[in-house]
Amino acid sequence: MGQLVIVSNRVAIPEKNAKARAGGLEVAVQAALKRKSGIWFGWSGKVATQTKIATQQVVHDKITYITLDLSKEDHQEYYNGFTNRVLWPILHYRIDLAEFSRRDLSGYLRVNDHFARELHEVLGPDDLIWVHDYHLMPLAKALRERGHKNRIGFFLHIPCPPPEMLTALPNHERLIPSLCEYDLVGFQTGDDAFNFSRYLTRECGLHSHDFNFMVADRTIRIDVFPVGIETAAFAHLAERSVRLPFVQRVIRSLNGRALIIGVDRLDYSKGIPQRLSAFELFLQTQPDWRSKVTYLQIAPKSRTEIPEYADMEQEIGSAAGRINGAFGEADWTPIRYVNRSYGHTTLAGLYRAARVGLVTPLRDGMNLVAKEYVASQNPDDPGVLVLSRFAGAAHECKAALLVNPYDPDSVAAAIGQALSMPLVERRERHEALFRVLSHNNVQQWADRFLTALEREPTPLSRLEQMLSVEP
Ligand code: F6P
Repeated sequence: MGQLVIVSNRVAIPEKNAKARAGGLEVAVQAALKRKSGIWFGWSGKVATQTKIATQQVVHDKITYITLDLSKEDHQEYYNGFTNRVLWPILHYRIDLAEFSRRDLSGYLRVNDHFARELHEVLGPDDLIWVHDYHLMPLAKALRERGHKNRIGFFLHIPCPPPEMLTALPNHERLIPSLCEYDLVGFQTGDDAFNFSRYLTRECGLHSHDFNFMVADRTIRIDVFPVGIETAAFAHLAERSVRLPFVQRVIRSLNGRALIIGVDRLDYSKGIPQRLSAFELFLQTQPDWRSKVTYLQIAPKSRTEIPEYADMEQEIGSAAGRINGAFGEADWTPIRYVNRSYGHTTLAGLYRAARVGLVTPLRDGMNLVAKEYVASQNPDDPGVLVLSRFAGAAHECKAALLVNPYDPDSVAAAIGQALSMPLVERRERHEALFRVLSHNNVQQWADRFLTALEREPTPLSRLEQMLSVEP
């Protein structure tokens, strides 16, 4: 068997993390590379200043990191344009925010082709290729066109909306069916997989047997692989991190008030303005809690060159200021709003110190903050997770307080319920959640995907025979 080749837009090279942050995807890819060493290939996170585009190679702990810079034009059309102003909003059910241009689409296809060209130089015939996320949907097609017959898998970290919405993507018929060039296409939830299979049936006339689709002479398999975290390791980290001087300083600064925590990249899919309104409603409707809680919202800026993100940054900053002005006292600030990012170690300690984890995205593929919050809790005195029913994590985290983020009343009520929940119920809910997250940790996720990818598919003719046999 050849090596494992992981391809994603972002690559987290150990020494260069500061420049190229890969977010939730980073944890997942690292788990896969622990199972089977190989190559991690993608964008360096840098925009080239010269006309010659450089490719860098670094070997670290038996993993070869190959990264390439993007030209200014590629960065604009592929990253700022098509992936983040077209695919991101549409896949997050926000057609209203999509800004399509043919130029950006051709930039997207050009960068995918560039990735395929560079990969062509390093791929062996038996290598197993695992492509991650919406940036690289047409990559398998570009590789197949270069003659690669390897087994290639694709995993979508973000949601897949129903075909009624996918078809709003201009040129969807050029792009979405290109996913059929993969051998295995993985999704976070059953809803996402079902939406995609409905697209294939409705738009491409393909039919499946148990999520196996026959396309020309190949079978593609669609399956569900909810991404996890390193649950046990994160729990240990939180136990230690809560003693860090910085975390202790934050705890002391609360003066005995209960901490509510939200941690999100500054993105409209995260529903931060709606969450602030719900918190405001909570303060209005449950005035006994005033001066007794502090809501810490950590929201590192992201994709700042994109207008929708800049607008949202303004909106959130002014909402937080307005609520603090209306409800704050000389000795109490209801909301602490910070745009900087904190490392995993500090976050684990802050999660453990928080009585409530407020995770209310309007739509999210999975949301690992929800899982990390649960893993960080002290099992003897755990905090409560308030979770949007529209986060992929809600499919597993049924013991959280599930809310509709569009309904401020339900979120405000859940905040109150979480803060006053008796210890017995908190323990029961936490135990149930921790059990689920231990059962499906990130290592198991990577193992399941790679095992499914390595497995040769059952030929469809054989499947048909099996299905037609009377019991
Ligand atoms: O899967 C979505 C994702 O790629 C996450 O891994 C990460 O949190 C985020 O998007 C990063 O976005 P960007 O690469 O645009 O900064």
